[in-house]
Amino acid sequence: MFHKLGRNDDCWCGSGVKYKHCHADYDAKLEKFKARGCLIPPRKIIKNQEQIQGMRDSGKINIAVLDAVAEKICEGMTTEEINTIVHEKTISMGGIPAPLGYQGFPKSVCTSINDQVCHGIPSGDVKLKSGDIINVDVSTIYKGYFSDSSRMFCIGEVSPEKERLVRVTKECVEKGLEMVKPWTRLGDMGYAVHQHALQHGYTVVREVGGHGVGLEFHEDPYVGYTTEKNTGMLMTPGMSFTIEPMVNMGTDEIFVDEENEWTIYTEDRKPSAQWEVMVLVTEEGYELIAY
Ligand code: MF3
Ligand code: CO
Repeated sequence: MFHKLGRNDDCWCGSGVKYKHCHADYDAKLEKFKARGCLIPPRKIIKNQEQIQGMRDSGKINIAVLDAVAEKICEGMTTEEINTIVHEKTISMGGIPAPLGYQGFPKSVCTSINDQVCHGIPSGDVKLKSGDIINVDVSTIYKGYFSDSSRMFCIGEVSPEKERLVRVTKECVEKGLEMVKPWTRLGDMGYAVHQHALQHGYTVVREVGGHGVGLEFHEDPYVGYTTEKNTGMLMTPGMSFTIEPMVNMGTDEIFVDEENEWTIYTEDRKPSAQWEVMVLVTEEGYELIAY
């Protein structure tokens, strides 16, 4: 039996605060957008203050792990060694590497080089060479809270073309971030990302995008970066998701490695870059949880 929440009942968000002092105004506002046909976020992806603090603590580990990688990554290192850095740093800070064992993923981090779009699997056989560009994608569980962010690294002497791809992809994330404002729509964010890539002659992968994250590794919504304006889910305070466009120098077509069934490559084998941040939508705009 559906029981309508009274204004003096505890709020649905789990804050322990009375509904009328917590999400009552939020819900009233949400109803107006819903009436206009706008897709609204389900309650289970709206975080309360305690959950937000848990995500921040998780994000701090994620950032420290990427900093540790940044300090040590160099030509001649294997991607297995990157995996070891990530694994040990995460554990030393009390965290758990989220990728390890996730749907059978065999390692603690994704390492994607050059034409690898994402989900590269660390290996002792893969050595970083001068001229490589690599994405290191770190995800952490801490006290049950998930964080997720990734960075690109240029190894040795990288061609100006690849360096530009890496720089413009980072700018794409910044353009997306500028569009993260409560009570606006996610499609506008993806549109800004896509436009910036297109303006530089690049393409954006359509089939793999970002995701809600925080209480789970992958929550609603799916976050695409080839979206139209005024479409997609409404962004509301307490929602958290990743901005992680995969930007290709050539075609946006991709294929999955048939042997490991994880690693995604560009169809034309031209380079691809990706940066990832995790954001929380706030009353004012956004807060970066991991980067
Ligand atoms: N951070 C990656 C993502 O959000 C993790 C992929 S799952 C893994 O897509 F198992 F490959 F790690
Ligand atoms: Co992610």
